[in-house]
Amino acid sequence: MKVKKAVIPAAGLGTRFLPATKAMAKEMLPIVDKPTIQFIVEEALKAGIEDILIVTGKAKRPIEDHFDANIELETNLREKGKTELLKLVEETTDVNLHFIRQSHPRGLGHAVLQAKAFVGNEPFVVMLGDDLMEDEIPLTKQLINDYEKTHASTIAVMKVPHEETYKYGIIDPEAEVADGLYNVRSFVEKPKPENAPSDLAIIGRYLLTPEIFHILENQAPGAGDEIQLTDAIDTLNKTQRVFAQEFKGKRYDVGDKIGFLKTSIAYGLTHPEVKADLRAFIKELGAELTAEDELQAISAKAAKKPTAETKKADQ
Ligand code: G1P
Repeated sequence: MKVKKAVIPAAGLGTRFLPATKAMAKEMLPIVDKPTIQFIVEEALKAGIEDILIVTGKAKRPIEDHFDANIELETNLREKGKTELLKLVEETTDVNLHFIRQSHPRGLGHAVLQAKAFVGNEPFVVMLGDDLMEDEIPLTKQLINDYEKTHASTIAVMKVPHEETYKYGIIDPEAEVADGLYNVRSFVEKPKPENAPSDLAIIGRYLLTPEIFHILENQAPGAGDEIQLTDAIDTLNKTQRVFAQEFKGKRYDVGDKIGFLKTSIAYGLTHPEVKADLRAFIKELGAELTAEDELQAISAKAAKKPTAETKKADQ
């Protein structure tokens, strides 16, 4: 069966970006000039997805408005002959988007469960908004390609530093059955490094068969007292094969401040409008920081050097 539907959970509170996210969805924070959620929607479209369900929560109205037509703005841009901007604005409305609200956020598994009626009895993908992925073939498309061969659920994973396993779902790989495609013994949510079965972490792209919903309906809360998608996947893996596909492309984590800043810089350096100025600015900054570091090193050395007085006192 063709994979046509995607679910994007976007009901998190965005506490890592407060106060910016007090009244605004974190998914609307822009990387240079594009909200992070638009990158996710574009990846879905490039993968051939036809319908997208966004599971929203409080303060998510701007997401709905972003992907809706804005007649006033479009008329204004058209009248002023700003065709390039008009194109950018119109692009965002060319998507089959659906919304559902998750009134009581009880974890990622619970958010995905809200998509049960939308998905029906079809395979589907789940795409998390905290990771932007770059590769020649979009990661979601890679998972769909796997599914077309195996007809099994497939979860995207990537190596992470061992000390960071507690931030992710981690797999216990059994055997590599094809290039980067693993059979999995178990899926564990947020293990401490000492208990982590590997360094292969779930990175926010999942291709799932609809049987996951029956499991989610009965899923007890797990790590962080939340209904965890990882736990449901582990159960699914006991009754049907669930593969893990190692992602070899580039992943940008926009889920915390430093990741967000790094991604903004990386994307800024390729953005036609700002890349030259940004490059010049970074060079200037680099030179200033080097000079500052050198000064600090000199003063640190000076501070350690015994003066005539300290020498006297030592004697
Ligand atoms: C969620 C999942 C986790 C996965 C991670 C990827 O965690 O529960 O298994 O590794 O996304 O970003 P969260 O980041 O929402 O805590």
